[in-house]
Amino acid sequence: MLDFLREEHVNEQIIKQIESFRRKYPSGQAGTGSRPRYMYYGREVWEQAAEALLCGENLLLAGSKATGKNVLAENLAALFGRPSYNVSFHINMDASFMIGTDTFRDGQVVFRPGPVYQCASLGGFCILDEINMARNEALAVLHSVLDFRRIISVPGYDTLSVHPAARFIATMNYGYAGTRELNEALASRFMIIQMPEITQENLEKLLRREFPDMKKDFVKQFAALFMDIEKKCRGGELTPRVLDLRGLLDALRLMHSGLSPLPALDMGITNKTFDSYEQSLVKDIIASRISGKTESRSIFI
Ligand SMILES: Nc1ncnc2c1ncn2[C@@H]1O[C@H](COP(=O)(O)OP(=O)(O)OP(=O)(O)O)[C@@H](O)[C@H]1O
Ligand SMILES: [Mg+2]
Repeated sequence: MLDFLREEHVNEQIIKQIESFRRKYPSGQAGTGSRPRYMYYGREVWEQAAEALLCGENLLLAGSKATGKNVLAENLAALFGRPSYNVSFHINMDASFMIGTDTFRDGQVVFRPGPVYQCASLGGFCILDEINMARNEALAVLHSVLDFRRIISVPGYDTLSVHPAARFIATMNYGYAGTRELNEALASRFMIIQMPEITQENLEKLLRREFPDMKKDFVKQFAALFMDIEKKCRGGELTPRVLDLRGLLDALRLMHSGLSPLPALDMGITNKTFDSYEQSLVKDIIASRISGKTESRSIFI
């Protein structure tokens, strides 16, 4: 992980501080710190996120779909060499799920810790995924965990102090049904990074890493295709529905297993909008980059 940051030209000062964090809090758990499946590309975001966590802050990664929020959160846990705990929020999430609850074992009432409690006691990195999907009342229990008090109080039990290496990284998507505003008191407890769309240069790196056998010209064309769509979204000609990096990567995987490029791109990108006029605009953009005659085996070596 540290080598990856060096390749990405992340500030050496920050890398040194991460190394000393890791020496201060050796994880002792097998597998922590190993290289994750995907790597996040974006030097500035890396630097801001790492610096905030080094200063003991909690992070909120806010942005539209497929901007790498979860990839970055997982990468950060691996980078700092801490075990990660994932809490996916939904409307029925409540305090007892996050913190823990009394349960019967061998005829006795015992406390069964939830992921937030476990993470706080072991010094993990807790990923509070899609935090704005939860009801605000359910999140109130996190207030004392996330501010200077760093404590968890469980009625009927001792108060737990949050381990000094523990950090909380929330992700938040907005703009589509089911998402809501985060309440002010909670937002105030995080340093917030507005996640940018990937740059062309970084997308080319990502494609080269994901598809080492893709021909150079096609790496450029597919990255440029994504940028064309992004530009049109910014200009208001297309809706954000069709700006979907996850969809592009899925389409490329289908091409890799042999499906023709155009149907694959339709499934991954064009059909994400249900508006036929918008679909035709997207098809035109694709046609200007990838000829209808292109076969999937000509894309890869
Ligand atoms: N800057 C980036 N660097 C590396 N990968 C990226 C980047 N942006 C997006 N991706 C890719 O996009 C895909 C989706 O990433 P991820 O699941 O982290 O997105 P997300 O922001 O959590 O999306 P959602 O809001 O839909 O949950 C992954 O394949 C990831 O590799
Ligand atoms: Mg996500």
